[in-house]
Amino acid sequence: MRKKITVVGAGMVGGTLTQRLAEKNYADLVLIDIVEGLPQGKALDIMQSGPIYGYDTYIKGTNSYEDTKDSDIVVITSGLARKPGMSRDDLLYLNMEIIRKVISQVVKFSPDCIIIMVANPLDAMTQLAFQVSGFPRERIMGMAGVLDTARFRTFLAEELKVSVEVITAYVLGGHGDTMVPMPRYTTVAGVPVTEILPAETVERIVKRTQDGGAEIVKLLKTGSAYYAPSAAVVDMVDSIVLDKKKVLPCAVYLDGEFGIKGLFVGVPVKLGAKGIEEIIEIKLTGEEKEKLERSASAVKELVDMMKAKL
Ligand code: 2OP
Repeated sequence: MRKKITVVGAGMVGGTLTQRLAEKNYADLVLIDIVEGLPQGKALDIMQSGPIYGYDTYIKGTNSYEDTKDSDIVVITSGLARKPGMSRDDLLYLNMEIIRKVISQVVKFSPDCIIIMVANPLDAMTQLAFQVSGFPRERIMGMAGVLDTARFRTFLAEELKVSVEVITAYVLGGHGDTMVPMPRYTTVAGVPVTEILPAETVERIVKRTQDGGAEIVKLLKTGSAYYAPSAAVVDMVDSIVLDKKKVLPCAVYLDGEFGIKGLFVGVPVKLGAKGIEEIIEIKLTGEEKEKLERSASAVKELVDMMKAKL
């Protein structure tokens, strides 16, 4: 039987993600939104590309959570996106209520699913979803590290005039200004980037990566990025559906790993059919550890603000 994947939110990320997943042809999809007609229209439109693109993906557009019943994976793209001048954190109170409602419905109909969060501020929303769902930490994670790493790889490839494919990298920490690109673990065809580029150039690219989301918000003016965010989710879904066991940076609940406890922070994990199958505790220098801790503190601040409001 084909897997069942639900995408919650039929906005730009949700719609693009549904298209990308349909083209994968390995699961049937449900696209759900509160706006009447929007998920139904997008689902039909994407399904009608099947005969041309060569996929048989069935896509149900709906406003009812009953249709999401027994999903294997649920991706939460609902919530408001940033406008120019807004930080991801400005979305905290706005998206809190939406996420609480969405998660309780998702869990009611798919108690055994794996949840991938995309709503911002990412780490805090994932923490909220974890609390509301009562899921074990293996089955709930946030998408951010794959996106931030893709941005880092893109900028490095552009600088070095090489294929993005030969660059492997990690961006850890929270999905905010304090995220931690890791030049020491970034290689160009196996060679550490720190041996190829001057430190100032690496620093400039690190900064551009940290501001990568805001750069796009500023250009689009009416919303935030969706092509790369949806591609990043597909990378994670691939690893779960196909049990590939890729090692990807994801926001996961840390219980003492990396010296952080009780908080969702982006770190490398092995993703497979069961969800998070292992947290890969790479060695960090004192400075890297400090940066990761600073990023975790920024996440904790938001989580505390949320707690005060509950
Ligand atoms: C981004 O970084 C929307 O947070 C997302 O583009």
